[in-house]
Order: sequence, then C-alpha cells, then structure tokens
Amino acid sequence: MTESAADRLLFDRLAGPYERLMPPTDGARLRAGIDLAEGPVRRGVDLGGGPGRGARAVGEVDWTVVDVADGMLRRARRRGLTAVAGDATRLPVREGTADAVLVVDALHHMPDHEAVLCEVARVLRPGGVVVLREFDPRTVRGRALVAAEAAVGFGSTFRTPDSLAGALERAGLSARVLDRGFGYTVAGVV
Ligand SMILES: C[S@@+](CC[C@H](N)C(=O)[O-])C[C@H]1O[C@@H](n2cnc3c(N)ncnc32)[C@H](O)[C@@H]1O
Repeated sequence: MTESAADRLLFDRLAGPYERLMPPTDGARLRAGIDLAEGPVRRGVDLGGGPGRGARAVGEVDWTVVDVADGMLRRARRRGLTAVAGDATRLPVREGTADAVLVVDALHHMPDHEAVLCEVARVLRPGGVVVLREFDPRTVRGRALVAAEAAVGFGSTFRTPDSLAGALERAGLSARVLDRGFGYTVAGVV
C-alpha cells in the first residue's frame, strides 16, 4: 500500500473520534488570511477539509469540502456542508472559480505539495486566496508531532513557514507568512 493510501485508510477509521480529540479551529486566523483576497469571497473550497472544521470556523462563505476519506465526508455532510470526494492534485472544481481555498492541518498529509499548490492556483480566480495552517517541525512541539505522526503510521511531510511560502511563490502566488509558532498560517494570493 502507498503511504497516501495508508493515510486515507487511517483517516476513514479516525473520522469518528477525530473531532472529539482535536483542539478547536482558530477561525480568526483563517479569516485574517481570507481577508487578503481581492474582491468578495463567496465560493470556497475546504481542501483536505475532513469534517469541515475550517469551513465552519470561517462561516459566511459557500464552502465545499473536498477530501479523500469517505468517513470524513459523511461527517461534513451531517453538519450541513457540501462535501465531495476528490484528491488534492485533481480537484473536482473548474478553473478560476474559487474565491478562497483553505488547507488546514492537511498539506503535510499530501505526498506532493508542489502538485497540490499548482492545483490550488488553477482553481482560484485572479485575486483569490489560499490560506494554509500547518505545523513548524523546527519547534519543540513540532518535533514531538513529527515523531507522533510517524508512530501512528502517517506518511506526513512537514515544512517550515518560509519553505511553504517559497513553494507558494513557485506555484505563482504572492505569499505571506501571517503568524509563526508551532502552528502557523501562510496565505497566497493569485
Ligand atoms: C488532519 S485532517 C484535517 C481535517 C480538517 N482540515 C481539520 O482541520 O480538521 C487531514 C485531512 O486531509 C485529508 N487528506 C489527506 N490527503 C488528501 C489528499 N491527497 N486529497 C484530499 N484530502 C486529503 C484526510 O483525509 C483528512 O481528512
């Protein structure tokens, strides 16, 4: 089994306890990134959205959750969200039609970050924004998280805020690191 298929299976199995175990999503940090979009933000994609915690924390946008794990998608639907099965490198979204994309605690689970960011750039309209929440593997808690995810069996790849901002720039977006720490936020505007 490939690493990404194993991750998908794990997320299917973890979908039940997942929301009970996770700390609340910081909607204010996500909204600060969304505010960088030029023009109104009406349509959004919560990519690797799981049960749609990011979408629900931001609200006020017509969100579609896209995820590979059926168990997660079922939970997003139960919470009233539109949820569609799809891989981050082949999004079921037309070119230039999204005002915003969220990738919250999910990019490190995706094997090919560059391909994901190019796909995000494809679906965003000019002036649209992607907001990513990730974990810095150089921090003390980051090092513990890297070890914990490996122990559970995830094939995660973590990167620093500056490395992620550089990858966004290479995908053609104008990138900004919005906050730093164990958890950090990077945004990119097309
Ligand atoms: C840690 S969860 C985060 C879920 C949600 N964003 C949140 O903040 O609660 C990571 C999610 O990424 C999804 N995922 C992993 N690889 C993916 C891929 N290649 N394409 C789409 N979703 C993926 C998993 O199924 C899982 O639901």
